[in-house]
Amino acid sequence: MADPLADDLLAYRKHFPALEDCVHFISHSLGCVPARAQDDLSEFFELWRTKSITAWSDWLPEVDRAAARIAKIISAPDGSVIMHQNVSGIMAVVASCFDYAPERNKVVYEALQFPTVSYVWQAEQRRGAKCVLVPSQDGTTIDTDAMCAAIDEQTLLVPISHVVFSSAYIQDAKKIVARAREVGAHVVLDCYQSIGTVPVDVHDLGVSFACGGSVKYLCGGPGAAWLYVRPDLIEQFAPRVTGWFGHEAPFAFTMPDQSYAETVWRYMGGTPAVAALYQARAGQTLIGEIGVRRIREKSLVMTQACIDWVDELGMKLNSPRPAHLRGGSVVFDFTGAADVCRELNRRKFFCDHRPTAGIRIAPHFYTKREEIDLFFAELKKIRSGSGK
Ligand SMILES: Cc1ncc(COP(=O)(O)O)c(C=O)c1O
Repeated sequence: MADPLADDLLAYRKHFPALEDCVHFISHSLGCVPARAQDDLSEFFELWRTKSITAWSDWLPEVDRAAARIAKIISAPDGSVIMHQNVSGIMAVVASCFDYAPERNKVVYEALQFPTVSYVWQAEQRRGAKCVLVPSQDGTTIDTDAMCAAIDEQTLLVPISHVVFSSAYIQDAKKIVARAREVGAHVVLDCYQSIGTVPVDVHDLGVSFACGGSVKYLCGGPGAAWLYVRPDLIEQFAPRVTGWFGHEAPFAFTMPDQSYAETVWRYMGGTPAVAALYQARAGQTLIGEIGVRRIREKSLVMTQACIDWVDELGMKLNSPRPAHLRGGSVVFDFTGAADVCRELNRRKFFCDHRPTAGIRIAPHFYTKREEIDLFFAELKKIRSGSGK
């Protein structure tokens, strides 16, 4: 029988020479570096060296080019994405678009939210927000009906993860968005754990805002986060967290007030961190070229192979079993998992460990079938104390 993982995506491994001396199962946290990122960073450097201040005529358009690369991956229309440095900052920008009247002050999100996002919304309570956290019954999933039930006429915002970082559970964003829109609330969908491995179609989902970064499955390194704003909403908001690049004419240097750009640039703050956009270009381009649907197909086969190993070794699976509910990573636990994870990393079997969740691993489009077996064989050796 043909090996389902003997696939044409392995042809892309040549772009990732770093894969040759490690087993890279950490793409949910840090995607492997593409060789081209070095050339792209050199291009940034050369522009700086040779053109000095006039390099900005190349650097600034890179913001729109990066946004277009992201837009392609999330099926967003042109002009609806802007680049930022990280999701925390993006959440603060989005939060600053709103005020909290007592009759509409609820911010509803899941208790399994990535902490940085929660920190931003909890701080909004000082300005009148009322955060409502929907608990998880099993520590892994969030009941969609419970999410929808928590969203009522008093709800202003629903900032949720598309895929939960600690379990890879995929939320039913479409259903949650439908409920939010019914009561006039806005969903802010954090796609950090889905972009590049689970298809995201912001248009189909109907979200008001979506965001994410490039560090993980996009293989772009830190500093190239993105914000999507639904086109009909772009001009509705005037973020208080702002800066001169959000101005309609930054180089007119008008004083004293902001006069917001009509475009999605109105969500931009100060000077964009352009080097990070060059660095992220290769990964974003490759993922756009391959297409996330193909990546997802392979990912599902590989994560199932990982789950089979977890079962065989008698470990506790902390990710959903059904394919349609699990994202690109697999999370599992056992006594001593944190120490085993440390040793796996020392041996260049890259993975991570999260408290109460366990070891997280994520094969990606560049993973070879045998690497899954190699990983679990190594883990087994370390666990049994037999491997040096
Ligand atoms: C779901 C999710 N959101 C956000 C982040 C990170 O946020 P930031 O870009 O602010 O570091 C991560 C992981 O680092 C994440 O998994």
